[in-house]
Amino acid sequence: MNSIQSIHGGDLRSLSKRADCSTDEIIDFSSSINPYGAPFSIKDVVNIHIEGLSAYPDPYAEQLVEALAKHWGKKNDQVLVANGSNEIFYACARIPQVKRIVVFSPSYSSYSRAAAACAKDLLKIELLRDDFGFKLDYKQLSRSMKEGDLVYIGSPNNPSGETIEPDKVHHLIQKNPKVLFVIDEAFIDFCGEKHSLIQKEECNLIISRSFTKFFSIPGIRLGACISNAPLIKEIQKQIPEWSVNHLAQQIGLKCIAVDTCVDEMKDNIMTLQKKLKENLLACGCFHVYPSHANYFLCRWLIDKNKIRIILDALLTKYKIALRSCENFDSLTIGYVRIAVKSEAENNYLCDALKKLLCIYANKKS
Ligand SMILES: Cc1ncc(COP(=O)(O)O)c(C=O)c1O
Repeated sequence: MNSIQSIHGGDLRSLSKRADCSTDEIIDFSSSINPYGAPFSIKDVVNIHIEGLSAYPDPYAEQLVEALAKHWGKKNDQVLVANGSNEIFYACARIPQVKRIVVFSPSYSSYSRAAAACAKDLLKIELLRDDFGFKLDYKQLSRSMKEGDLVYIGSPNNPSGETIEPDKVHHLIQKNPKVLFVIDEAFIDFCGEKHSLIQKEECNLIISRSFTKFFSIPGIRLGACISNAPLIKEIQKQIPEWSVNHLAQQIGLKCIAVDTCVDEMKDNIMTLQKKLKENLLACGCFHVYPSHANYFLCRWLIDKNKIRIILDALLTKYKIALRSCENFDSLTIGYVRIAVKSEAENNYLCDALKKLLCIYANKKS
């Protein structure tokens, strides 16, 4: 598989093959993970709980579910945990009452992959786009929905970084009780609970959360789902027991126990985000869309055939991986997603870009 064309960002193994280096050397702007790392020592949690690996994990992670329910002000039967939020998308698509999946373009590709995996019909609705961003087409969605639909909405959306207008979406959810809505809030920790629908309780609302992004643990796989008790029961039926391993359960407990430094970390990430936007704009080769998340969708302002050369040179010469958006529905090689990393890494990227632009942007291809 071509590295630029991997299904998701963060495919370090193929990136390193292409860059002819070790995976550690890749400066990965292609997956959007908290640049400060986890706000606690993962090693300590693993060391303390390593002995537990000789037994099966709690099949439904009851201790973690109870702690999460308390954390979000829910009852235990309104929460389940899964092997990453990806597992939740696939489980929701398999709910027997779901006949058709509705997704927006561009959005996270696993929503439609989940539909394909269980051979359900798929309806794609284009996001409305202009230079100020990619917005949900509420009118088109209202017109298109029918009984038995399940609608995936990312908020913040990947790759655009836009959040929903919570009141508008809540209204749609209430008006369409025979349609299920999965709101994917994998990146909500970066922008705040005021954008979330987690406190709304509706018969047809499912919230999906991920620990991967903010807590910087993509390798452990941990996601959670919040809904009403009957729907949680339905979704749980689609998830194999022991899906969340023992270490993931312990790390999850730690994630919700560390409230103290989390707000400061969020503020620092958003400061880095603003600075990166200014620096990317200063490179002069992008239109940078507004984002509520720890990544930016950018539209290249240079000749299309130079883009691939620059992406390739970034990777092979500087070991920098960006997320080309050419395999997102409705996007092309003309779009790229860039994660917010540390200040030094963000500066390294912008310096490398400027150098490459000097070499290639004005060269005749
Ligand atoms: C918008 C969005 N939702 C969910 C996921 C999956 O996250 P997890 O690691 O929890 O499966 C991703 C992964 O990139 C994503 O971009």
